[in-house]
Amino acid sequence: MKRLPFIAGNWKMNKTVGEALELVRELKASVQGIEDVEAAIAPPFTALYPVSQELKGSSLHLASQNLFWEEKGAFTGEISPMMLKEIDCHYAIIGHSERRQYFGETDETVNRRIKAAFNHGLKVIFCIGEMLQEREGGLTFSVIERQLDGGLKGVEENTIEEIVIAYEPVWAIGTGKTATPEQAEEVHQFIRQKLGRLYSKRTSEGIRIQYGGSVTPENIKGLMAQTNIDGALVGGASLNAESFSRIVRFKEM
Ligand code: 13P
Repeated sequence: MKRLPFIAGNWKMNKTVGEALELVRELKASVQGIEDVEAAIAPPFTALYPVSQELKGSSLHLASQNLFWEEKGAFTGEISPMMLKEIDCHYAIIGHSERRQYFGETDETVNRRIKAAFNHGLKVIFCIGEMLQEREGGLTFSVIERQLDGGLKGVEENTIEEIVIAYEPVWAIGTGKTATPEQAEEVHQFIRQKLGRLYSKRTSEGIRIQYGGSVTPENIKGLMAQTNIDGALVGGASLNAESFSRIVRFKEM
């Protein structure tokens, strides 16, 4: 099955509103006219609304870096799916390893956030990935399987099509140490097979699986050449219009 390549930029805790608008203006110009690759950016919460205004009429999609599962109420510091939907957010990144590592995110809370996003018509970029000691201990597949089982618990076949999985080995994030295309493909294939057991084979064939971890304009082509790698979730290299647009334009290299 043909899957539309999907490149997303996770800005993490970077860019003031002013800086974000400057970057978005440059990006809009440099990715204009690209139809055979989907592109999205995930600015920090403070910049989401101004960026959404700037993106009107553009094919670049907007993503949040997280969300909370309740609609409203006494949850100081949280942002609800409704609030994101209102400002034309297409996607929510959920379960990023930095949230798991530093902010107590678990498979169970990831699962609640995923279901809340779907209930409000948001698409999800669901992040999974093993830590270095887990890889070295031969636990990669069991960690991935646990994260998929936990994160997707109770998520129905008819909504799962709106998910994008981002495989981000924690040891490759921000380290300059990218997984080789073969290492990444091995896990991507495992993820697709697992999705085929949780859902139908047809559904699993349609789900896009991004790779994340030190993706650059130099290594994107080799990664995208793999059968089960359908895109990338880019951190550092998404903070600059030139490098991010070169990644989005990987087909032209
Ligand atoms: P880097 O591309 O900076 O390694 O970050 C990857 C990532 O965590 C994207 O979500």
